[in-house]
Amino acid sequence: MDISIFGMGYVGTVTAACLADDGHTVIGVDPNEFKIDTINNGQAPMVESGVDELIARNVQAGRLTATTDSAAAVAASDVIFVCVGTPSRPNGSLDLQFLERACTNIGVALQKADHHVVVVVRSTMLPGTMNDVVIPLLETHSNKRSGPDFGVCVNPEFLREATAVQDFRCPPKIVVGSNDQQTIDVVRPLVERGDAPLAVVPLEIAEMVKYVDNSWHALKVTFANEIGRIAKSFDLDSHQIMDVFFLDDKLNISTSYLTPGMAFGGSCLPKDVRALTHKAREMDIDLPVLHSVTASNQAHLNWARDQVLAHDIEKVSILGLSFKAGTDDLREAPMVDLAEQLIGKGRDVRIYDEHVHIQRLTGANQSYINAHLAHLERLLVDDLDTALKHGELLVVGNKSPAFADLAQVVGPNQLVIDMVRVISDPAPLAGYEGLLW
Ligand SMILES: NC(=O)c1ccc[n+]([C@@H]2O[C@H](COP(=O)([O-])OP(=O)(O)OC[C@H]3O[C@@H](n4cnc5c(N)ncnc54)[C@H](O)[C@@H]3O)[C@@H](O)[C@H]2O)c1
Repeated sequence: MDISIFGMGYVGTVTAACLADDGHTVIGVDPNEFKIDTINNGQAPMVESGVDELIARNVQAGRLTATTDSAAAVAASDVIFVCVGTPSRPNGSLDLQFLERACTNIGVALQKADHHVVVVVRSTMLPGTMNDVVIPLLETHSNKRSGPDFGVCVNPEFLREATAVQDFRCPPKIVVGSNDQQTIDVVRPLVERGDAPLAVVPLEIAEMVKYVDNSWHALKVTFANEIGRIAKSFDLDSHQIMDVFFLDDKLNISTSYLTPGMAFGGSCLPKDVRALTHKAREMDIDLPVLHSVTASNQAHLNWARDQVLAHDIEKVSILGLSFKAGTDDLREAPMVDLAEQLIGKGRDVRIYDEHVHIQRLTGANQSYINAHLAHLERLLVDDLDTALKHGELLVVGNKSPAFADLAQVVGPNQLVIDMVRVISDPAPLAGYEGLLW
């Protein structure tokens, strides 16, 4: 396939060298003449293991060339990868000037193209950039339409500098973001690698993925370092602690606790985070990430409350009160907090939870409810039917299997707010809102 790559930086050069090595004819495009000359002389314009050899071999074989002439490159290409930089401005916002210039140049060149071209953006850009910036620039300057005249795709890159070639060839995953099948069929065989899992997703999802990954990596580093700081202050070896942490691939290094939904709660997470951060404060150790966990959870609860209060509906039924299905533990359950706040705002609340029975609450569980929802007895109903009859607004608070088929029993005038995404198929519901989806 004939390919152009705009931007001969770390991502673009590795992409160009590897795709040429796969047998494609690749033209690298960059305004920096030094980089262009370096590549045409068979050398890498940066230090990156393995790239020098790949460039030398493929320039020698005539599969890889570089140029400053974007029009000539576009004219000779079926697929154009955009790998230009998207740096931060001083205030942290995303600087799109290089992307805008590259898209303008590609658009101008596309005007003269008499073949179907696919433009694939690998640069990291926020959701909406493709629709709001890239496509309008390409369309305006080419006088052609995205879809019938040229394809667009977002294909984020997950390589790490220093192991970039290895990561390009064995990536953790491949993401192809596009809304049209013809484009997917062109891009997919170019970017698929061995056993790497492949996700074909809408454009905006592909744009967001890289930010989620990098935020997660950044969070992991700061989390590990905060644990390291407090461990060292206890005179403990943080690596030994984390080696034990890594053993747990069921709850720790896993997908557990990573699905957006309701705030955390229960008898352990809130109290244990509080104890550790309180101890850190006593020891004068600054742990901003861990300290802000409780505040973040409260902000999330406020968000959930506001979603409910945004509807001026008096009769509310809460379905599922305990912090997770299958238990009657109400200590620090987010739905208890929500119920309390709704009542405070004058809502007429009923609560149904198959596992919560007032006579059976004892010990710390009972004390917690006495302190936070003393009139729970008057709010609890014995069965789902009674709760459904009362509520014009139904708030689903935990993943009890009994709620999966709610869509079959809810009336046309009832609104459901699902905090936990338990309803398997909300399509039949006349009024459905997911908390975060
Ligand atoms: N570096 C990484 O490890 C990495 C990994 C994954 C994703 N990314 C993302 O990939 C993108 C590129 O990152 P990078 O580190 O390779 O950037 P870089 O700064 O190393 O290279 C960008 C290149 O684009 C060139 N350029 C600027 N305007 C151009 C134009 N109009 N036409 C053609 N070329 C132009 C620049 O001269 C430069 O050579 C960024 O969005 C980055 O966030 C980077």
